[in-house]
Amino acid sequence: MDLSPIILFFTIIFTILAAVSGSRDLPGDYIRLPSQASKFFHEPENDDNVQGTRWAILLAGSNGYWNYRHQKGGLKDENIIVFMYDDIASNFENPRPGVIINKPDGGDVYEGVPKDYTGAEVHADNFYAALLGNKSAITGGSGKVVDSGPNDHIFVYYTDHGGPGALGMPVGPYLYASDLNEVLKKKHASGGYKSLVFYLEACESGSIFEGLLPEDINIYATTASNARESSWGTYCPGEYPPPPPEYSTCLGDLYSIAWMEDSDVHNLRTESLHQQYKLVKDRTINGASYGSHVMEYGDVGLSNNHLFLYLGTNPANDNISFVDESALKLRSPSTAVNQRDADLVHFWDKFRKAPEGSPRKNEAQKQVLEAMSHRMHVDNSVELIGKLLFGIEKGPELLKAVRPSGSPLVDNWDCLKTTVRTFETHCGSLSQYGMKHMRSFANICNAGIPNEQMFEASAQACASIPANPWSSLQGGFSA
Ligand SMILES: *[C@@H]1O[C@H](CO)[C@@H](O)[C@H](O)[C@H]1NC(C)=O
Ligand SMILES: *[C@@H]1O[C@H](CO)[C@@H](O)[C@H](O)[C@H]1NC(C)=O
Repeated sequence: MDLSPIILFFTIIFTILAAVSGSRDLPGDYIRLPSQASKFFHEPENDDNVQGTRWAILLAGSNGYWNYRHQKGGLKDENIIVFMYDDIASNFENPRPGVIINKPDGGDVYEGVPKDYTGAEVHADNFYAALLGNKSAITGGSGKVVDSGPNDHIFVYYTDHGGPGALGMPVGPYLYASDLNEVLKKKHASGGYKSLVFYLEACESGSIFEGLLPEDINIYATTASNARESSWGTYCPGEYPPPPPEYSTCLGDLYSIAWMEDSDVHNLRTESLHQQYKLVKDRTINGASYGSHVMEYGDVGLSNNHLFLYLGTNPANDNISFVDESALKLRSPSTAVNQRDADLVHFWDKFRKAPEGSPRKNEAQKQVLEAMSHRMHVDNSVELIGKLLFGIEKGPELLKAVRPSGSPLVDNWDCLKTTVRTFETHCGSLSQYGMKHMRSFANICNAGIPNEQMFEASAQACASIPANPWSSLQGGFSA
């Protein structure tokens, strides 16, 4: 009997565990259960201070949901636009069919969630059209858009996988930072809001706004991480507190859980965006070897506004007159999982729990092996291309170079898109894991490498186009 696949498998498992317990930059495509954003959209009965309409646009690109249970008399449904992939509740891996929880002792947060755009309707063009209020540019879905005017306030919450300069979408190309910032400028130029607040959870999410978001268009953004680090899942198997035992997935993401749980316990009429930023930053850095740096961008002066201008407020908390900083910190889970590794944690937990010799165990083993071999293929191909372009010594270093803070990832975004497409043509889909290499492609552009040269290097590095599920012929291109 040939034992080598088994040995390889356990080597891989060991690597995964090392990555989980440390903060190695491994990665992922996993069943994610974030977000209960809309439960906070309570609007006070008579609120003299707010003029204009409040709008919210909520997007969970890969997987997600929001809790509408408590949303009574809050923002009107017609002013909330929800994008969700909607593949969790009915996923056969979900131990509680039709139910989604996002904290260990939490109840169902799925029931009653309105869904404007789901599945294949969740793509970058629909998101832009909805934000711009351009109904005619929408395809499918409810057709609901942010039809706002110059007195209105807009809140955007977006959670998905990401990489330097780009956000993943369940369908179609990535959402590129340059395009998103152009759309925001356009919305401003058209008198589409008085102020806009953007909360973003993704790996390297700082890179979406850094050096790109102007300070003078009344937009305040915070991100789960800076431009060069991953963001983190939380309430994961093996953490304390753990998800219920039947769960093999992380229940939430650290930054998202932090702002939502903070909004849950505080009086949003008296808590400012800035106060929440500080609290969320403290919790998300986690004071340990893992965690990420929550960042703020754009018009930071706007953060003096109270949260209720964007989120409404929970009447139950209206008499709380101070911000209790300790309440939140006490709730920090003891560990968190690098977002890019959450899929491996899931497969590993599934493997560990499945009975010896069962089909489920074999399936979990196969999933880990496939995911790992895809990762190795992508990593090795990018590294080889770097060496072919810049030399054996300089290649790896140049690919990893980080520009000074305040600079955008890349100057020529069209070059970045072309480079991604060229890579995927020869080497197959980057997929969510491969998004971590966006900085390498950006650096290839920043070094002025012509596309013909990138094309040749990719053809050399990837002699045959992969025919597996990771082929770009199957999943489509990311640019
Ligand atoms: C709305 O989208 C359509 C189709 O993409 C486009 O032709 C039109 O110019 C857009 N309208 C505005 C106001 O941007
Ligand atoms: C808040 O205080 C007011 C005035 O004292 C009181 O009428 C109201 O019931 C209180 N609300 C809550 C939720 O405790």
